[in-house]
Amino acid sequence: MRDRFLRACRRQPVDRTPVWFMRQAGRYLPEYREIRGDRDILETCRHPEVVVELSLQPLRRMPLDAAIVFSDIMVPLEAIGIPIRVASGTGPVLEEPIRSEADLRRLRPLVPEEDEPYLLEAIRLLRAELQVPLIGFAGAPFTLASYLVEGGPSRDLARTKALLHGEPTIWARLMEVLADLCVTHLRAQIEAGAQAVQVFDSWVGTLEPEDYERAVLPYARTVFQGVADLGVPSIHFGVGTGELLRPMARAGGDVIGVDWRVPLDAAWERVGTDRGIQGNLDPAICLAPWEVVRAKALRVLGRAGGRPGHVFNLGHGVLPETPPDTLARLVDLVHTATGEPGEDAAAGAR
Ligand code: CP3
Repeated sequence: MRDRFLRACRRQPVDRTPVWFMRQAGRYLPEYREIRGDRDILETCRHPEVVVELSLQPLRRMPLDAAIVFSDIMVPLEAIGIPIRVASGTGPVLEEPIRSEADLRRLRPLVPEEDEPYLLEAIRLLRAELQVPLIGFAGAPFTLASYLVEGGPSRDLARTKALLHGEPTIWARLMEVLADLCVTHLRAQIEAGAQAVQVFDSWVGTLEPEDYERAVLPYARTVFQGVADLGVPSIHFGVGTGELLRPMARAGGDVIGVDWRVPLDAAWERVGTDRGIQGNLDPAICLAPWEVVRAKALRVLGRAGGRPGHVFNLGHGVLPETPPDTLARLVDLVHTATGEPGEDAAAGAR
C-alpha cells in the first residue's frame, strides 16, 4: 500500500507530500454526473456497488494518496429514521426539525450493522480494491445539530444558536446524543476497514471561541476520545476556524484541517507542531488559469516548509465547476515539488 498519507498523519517523514481532496468524488466529474443522474444522494449511498464506483472514480484520473468512502454526513441520521432530503444545490432539508425535549426522543441509538450495512459493505469492498488508504468520516455533533435544528442549510445558524443559548439543557442532551452517534458511526467504519477518519465540523466557524469552548468542545472531545483506542489517525476539520484552531486542537484530532483564510504556517503555529495539518488551497483558485493554481499551491507547500505532518488538500470541498484536469495537474505538482529537492519546492518557499 502507498502509505504516505498515513505516515504524514502520524508526522513521520514521507517521500512526497500526500494529497487528496475533500469532495474528490462529485459533480465536477462527468462520470459522476452520469451515474448519479437525479437520484437523491442518500438513496445513492445505499447501494454499495455504486458507492465503490463513485469512490474510485477520482483515483482513476489522478494518483491521489487516499480514497474517501462516498457517503454523506446525514447518512447515519437518516439511518436512524429521521426523514431527510438532500436538495441539489442547497443541501440537507428536514421537514420536521429537532428543537424540543419531545423532538429529542426521535433520535434513537445507531446500530451500524442493521441501520447502515451498505456503508460497511462498501468499505469492505473498497479495501479489497485500493492501493491507498481509505478514509471514513462523520459530521461532528455541532454541524449535525445545525442541520437538525435549522431544518436545512442556513447562513447565520440563528435557530441553532438560539437553542444553544436559550435551552442549555436541551442543547447538552442533543450534543450528547449526536456525539454518541458519531462515535458509533466512526467505530463501525474503522472496524469495517477505514484506515483514518475525518470529522467534519464544517459550520463551527460561525461560533465565537467562548461559546465553542463551553457548548461544543466537550462533545467534540468525546468523539475523538471515543475512537482513540482503535489507533487510526483522525482529522478534525472546520471552515472559518481561524480563532478556533487552538480549542479545536485541544478537543482532538491527530491532524487539524484548515481552510484558506489563515496562512498554513500561522495555522500550524496555532494548532501546535505536535499535530499534523491538512489544507489549504482555496477551492475557487482551481477555476483560475493553471499558472495561478500552480503559484498558489507552491505557496501552500512553501508555508508547510517540508515539515513532516502536512497533508495537502483544498481548504474545503472541490467546487462543481472545477476542471478535472486542473486537479490532476495539482496532484502531480504536489508530488513533483515535494519529491527530490526541486526547483518548485524551493520557489514556493521564497
Ligand atoms: O468525495 C468525498 O469527499 C466524499 C463525499 C462526501 C459527500 N458529502 C457527498 C456529497 C462528503 C465527505 C460529504 C460530507 C458533507 N455533507 C459535509 C461536510 C463537508 C463539507 O462540505 O463541509 C456537509 C456539510 C454535507 C451536507 C451536504 N450534502 C451538503 C451541504 C451538500 C451540498 C448540496 C449541493 O448540491 O451542493 C450535500 C450533497 C452532497 N453530498 C454532494 C456530494 C458529492 C453534492 C451534491 C450531489 O452530488 O447531489
